[in-house]
Amino acid sequence: ASARGGVPEGTPVVEPRDLPSRPRRNRKSRHLRRAFSETTVRPEHFILPVFVHDGEEDIPINAMPGVSRLGWQNGLVREVEAAMKEGVHQVVIFPKTPDELKTSTAEEAFNPDGLAQRSISLLKEKFGNDIVVYTDVALDPYNSDGHDGIVSDAGVILNDETIHYLQKQAVSQARAGADCVSPSDMMDGRVAAIREALDAEGFTDVSIMSYTAKYASAFYGPFREALASAPKAGEAHRIIPPNKKTYQQDPANYREALREAMLDEEEGADIMMVKPGMPYLDIIRLLRDNTTLPVAAYHVSGEYSMLKAAAAAGYLNEQDAVLESLLSMRRAGSDLILTYYATQAARWIQEGGLDASQGGD
Ligand code: PBG
Repeated sequence: ASARGGVPEGTPVVEPRDLPSRPRRNRKSRHLRRAFSETTVRPEHFILPVFVHDGEEDIPINAMPGVSRLGWQNGLVREVEAAMKEGVHQVVIFPKTPDELKTSTAEEAFNPDGLAQRSISLLKEKFGNDIVVYTDVALDPYNSDGHDGIVSDAGVILNDETIHYLQKQAVSQARAGADCVSPSDMMDGRVAAIREALDAEGFTDVSIMSYTAKYASAFYGPFREALASAPKAGEAHRIIPPNKKTYQQDPANYREALREAMLDEEEGADIMMVKPGMPYLDIIRLLRDNTTLPVAAYHVSGEYSMLKAAAAAGYLNEQDAVLESLLSMRRAGSDLILTYYATQAARWIQEGGLDASQGGD
């Protein structure tokens, strides 16, 4: 009766006749809720993606408020130090290539003195094993056509011809000191080919995080602005497909992700990634239940920008919505999360995280 004190007068009570199970009992106070919490999201789960350019200043990215193309020396080191201070010790580097260095076979991708290679070396020289450096293996930032592979005059993204360049790119990143190379190109057979090339050069310890199930998604829009890497318009004598649908997966497909996962596992991947993150939680779960490898989720640029825009408009509480988004990917089964929110989210977590969210207890 005392628990019912203060019930608005006249409120009718319907007494359940037989109700042995009341799930609310396990939610009745903070420490009980904490005891039964099934999933955690911690700074060590994060990989911070960073954009770098060959200059001094940091250049803000219009479609990604709070994210800049960093000057590859000062800006990069500063952002990585800030991340490590919050407990985030993993980064993936995305270089912005000037248009004049782009070619149809993307040679800049394996220039030993390229921006990606210099950035990797700088971080490893400065921080050693305090930082885990991941790279992106794909030709799009270096390719004058803006595709992840080599484009024929007829507009076909060539698979087997591209693999050769991906091998050279991955080896040059390994030589620069990368801990883990991450093929995001979705060419068939590239994981095995990259493994073979790395091993042949003695890089047996360099890992491969494969973008296993990467969808042809609208959510990469802001990233392509950041790197100016969108597929280019074709010309009269050359067709350039305006999208990546012949290599990235159809958002309608579920079984296909399992097929890609089985191949990547056979080919020697060390980590499998699903991308984007939140719209593809079912795919994260599918991989989690079908492989013993670690699974990563990429909370991509468009997901970041959506949250930023809604928070700026006052429609969402940013901290709560971000931490819930990240938690959902962990709950779906991802070990790692690549997120532009890594440093900020890590700080929020140190400050109490979701326990402190929605007004606390
Ligand atoms: C390049 C690559 C892309 C992203 C990561 N690597 C873009 C694309 O495939 O067009 C997208 C990441 C993001 O949107 O945050 N192959």
